[in-house]
Amino acid sequence: MTKDTNVYTVDQYNGWADEHDWKTVKYDSESRALFYSFLNFETKGKKLLDVACGSGHDLLHYKDSFGFDVNGVDASDKEVAFANKRLGEDAVKVGLSDAIPFEDKTFDVVVSKYAPQAFNSIEDFYNEVIRVLKPGGYFIILTTHPMRQFLEKSVKPRDYFKKEVVVSWIYEHTIPLKEWSHTFNEYFSPLFLDNFIIEQFYEKADTKECIEHIDGESYPGYFLFRAKKK
Ligand SMILES: C[S@@+](CC[C@H](N)C(=O)[O-])C[C@H]1O[C@@H](n2cnc3c(N)ncnc32)[C@H](O)[C@@H]1O
Repeated sequence: MTKDTNVYTVDQYNGWADEHDWKTVKYDSESRALFYSFLNFETKGKKLLDVACGSGHDLLHYKDSFGFDVNGVDASDKEVAFANKRLGEDAVKVGLSDAIPFEDKTFDVVVSKYAPQAFNSIEDFYNEVIRVLKPGGYFIILTTHPMRQFLEKSVKPRDYFKKEVVVSWIYEHTIPLKEWSHTFNEYFSPLFLDNFIIEQFYEKADTKECIEHIDGESYPGYFLFRAKKK
């Protein structure tokens, strides 16, 4: 790894990697199904990279059900070990979203599910995706909604635009997850709009079991998009 900006996230995930491994299967089925529905194009034999792939449940599905040739990257060496064991091959590398350890123009598809909210810099992540994705390739993400992160801000009065670490209580209030707050300005920045065309977009509330709802209110917990590289 070349940068240490996300080290505290790495420690966090290394700390509960095995717990996360089974909880992700138990609680994330709805967002997972929605995410898979965005892969509605010819997938067989195409090269896919999952950034912040976690323990590899999705990668196995991309490989077995969609016929993708898969690779992954994750900051947590424990999650990477799980993923490679699950896949039965060393397809996943330890690395960061802002220094992806793969060559330029390698992939037809780059995905990142329930993870970009944890990245320090969305811009650095996008620069890396633009580098490793082939022209015409698909970029698909699912990330925590900025509205949810705004509600999670603890310092009042809350400032939507101030970058700070927020705490999400997930999986029936069993795990406090610390992540960076982000804005729509970051997700749909000039860099993004110069390089991608958005084809699909959706925002949705989390299921109650997956993430603790703040004050019982209804709001979008995450959003996802599919974009095509120009
Ligand atoms: C909530 S989990 C999501 C895992 C998987 N994508 C899923 O949907 O189940 C977030 C993952 O992001 C990884 N992660 C966090 N920050 C990262 C970064 N900057 N670069 C690479 N991986 C990162 C963590 O180690 C963790 O495995």
